[in-house]
Amino acid sequence: MAIDAALFRQSLSQWASGVTVVTLAHGGEYHGMTASSFSSVSLTPPLILVCIAHHAATHARLMETGAFAVNILAEHQADLGKRFAGMMPDITDRFADLTITTAETGSPLLDGVLAALDCRTHQTVEAGDHTILIGEIVAAHVNPGEPLIYSNRRWGGFRQGE
Ligand SMILES: Cc1cc2nc3c(=O)[nH]c(=O)nc-3n(C[C@H](O)[C@H](O)[C@H](O)COP(=O)(O)O)c2cc1C
Repeated sequence: MAIDAALFRQSLSQWASGVTVVTLAHGGEYHGMTASSFSSVSLTPPLILVCIAHHAATHARLMETGAFAVNILAEHQADLGKRFAGMMPDITDRFADLTITTAETGSPLLDGVLAALDCRTHQTVEAGDHTILIGEIVAAHVNPGEPLIYSNRRWGGFRQGE
């Protein structure tokens, strides 16, 4: 018997993760959404994955583009995580006033992130109400800093020395 949705959510909320923003160019526009379901997959070839909900507007675009970028947020970028999760209803254009560079694949890279991974879609795997999107990294840009951490609806960082 499957566990109920509330227990599933409560259990998974105990997990802590970093926070990424998955970005892409589609139809001449930039799009992006916050995703914490990021993982390293393979070194040879260099593969990563993110799990994208079917109901996300970004989903259909990701299925069509064949390229995307994963922007790993720094500790001070919780506002960006909230913005790209649709938690700032006043912001209709998620890219408004942001400094962007365009990656080799055409995907937008967010300024000041800890790492930006420019990916081509390697494989998609259907899994329940999500698609596991596996990307091959074609270029990576890394900056110094500390990661943003998310757990149980809280945004924060490491406590140093513990
Ligand atoms: C911290 C955090 C992590 C999230 N991780 C994911 C994720 O891994 N996959 C996903 O499909 N949605 C995730 N979401 C929800 C999406 O960011 C949210 O539904 C967003 O509004 C989708 O945008 P879109 O509908 O414009 O594509 C996350 C939200 C938050 C706040």
